[in-house]
Amino acid sequence: MKHAVVIAILVILCTFLVHTGLTNIGLLPLQASVQAVAVDQLMGIHIWLISFLFSLIMVTLVYSLIVFRRKKGETGDGAHIVGSSGLEVAWTVIPLLAVITLAYIGARSLGEVRRIDPSALQVKVIGGQWYWQFQYPEFGVMSTELYLPVDRQVDLQMTSKDVIHSFWVPEFRVKQDLIPGRTTDLRITPTIIGKYKVLCAELCGTSHAYMEGAVFVVSQQDFESWVKTQQSSIPMDPVLRGEQLAQQYGCTNCHSVDGSSKIGPTWYELFESEVELDNGTYVVADHEYLIRSIINPNLQVVEGYSANMMPPFEDTLDQPAIEALAAYIESLK
Ligand code: CUA
Repeated sequence: MKHAVVIAILVILCTFLVHTGLTNIGLLPLQASVQAVAVDQLMGIHIWLISFLFSLIMVTLVYSLIVFRRKKGETGDGAHIVGSSGLEVAWTVIPLLAVITLAYIGARSLGEVRRIDPSALQVKVIGGQWYWQFQYPEFGVMSTELYLPVDRQVDLQMTSKDVIHSFWVPEFRVKQDLIPGRTTDLRITPTIIGKYKVLCAELCGTSHAYMEGAVFVVSQQDFESWVKTQQSSIPMDPVLRGEQLAQQYGCTNCHSVDGSSKIGPTWYELFESEVELDNGTYVVADHEYLIRSIINPNLQVVEGYSANMMPPFEDTLDQPAIEALAAYIESLK
C-alpha cells in the first residue's frame, strides 16, 4: 500500500511536469480562427492524457526498477502472482469510459468546426500541380492569393485539376483534401488580421513541398478595396481578358501563341484553319470548335497529341471567360 501511495504522488507530480513542458515548447502555431478553438481544446485534453499515461508508465517502471531490484544476498525467485480481477475490470472500464468521453467531445468539436453560417463569403479553391487559385464568384474576381475579411466565415468550395491536394493553413487548424472530379468544402472564420500561408498537405508530386499560397486576413474595409482593385484590373476587351485568362489558368504553358512547339497544339493561326484529328478526319477550327475544345478537349483530339493531357474547363471557367479565351485565340494570326 505504501508503494502505491508513493507511486500515485510521483505520477501526479510527473504529469504536471510533463504537461508544463509540452505546453511550453510551442507545439501549436497561432490560434487564428474560430474553428481553431475547438481543435485546440481537443488537443489540450490529449496533451493532459498523454502526460498522464507517460508518467503512469515511466514512474511505475523506474520506481519498480529501483525499489524492487535484487538486493545483495537475494537468490530466490520473485513472488509468483496470478491474475487480479479488480485490476482487469479497472483497465477495461477506465479506457472504455475514456474513449466514449473522447468520442463525445470529438463529435461536439466536429459540429463546432463544421457549423455553417448562411452569410459566409463564397470562395472557389482550385488546386493544381503546383499552384493555388481562388475565385470569388460574387465579385467576378480571381486571384492566386487568398484574401479574407476578418471575423466573417468563408465557405471554401474546393476541387483539384489533377491529383489529390490538401488545403491547410496551420493557424486555422482545419484541413481538407481537394479531389479531382469532386467538390469538397471547408469553413473557416479567421479571427486575427495578418499574413498566413496555405500549404499543401498531401504528397502530390515533385514540387509538393513548394505548393504554397499567400493568405491575407484583412479588415472588411481593406477587403472591399482589394476587391475593387482586382475588379478594375480585369480588362473589358474580350481579347485582352482572354490573354489574361490564358496566363492565369496556365493555358500558355502548353499552347504557344507564336507557332512554336509546346506540349499542346499552337494557337497561332489556329482559327479557321483545317485541323487533322486522331481518327483521320478533318475539322475546321471555327468558333464552335474552339469553345468545344476548351469545355471538353477530349472530344476531338488533334492528330499527334494524346487525350487526357488537358483537363476539361467546363466547371472551372464561366461562359464569358470561355468566350474571352476563344476571342483571344481567334485574334492570334
Ligand atoms: Cu499539392 Cu501536395
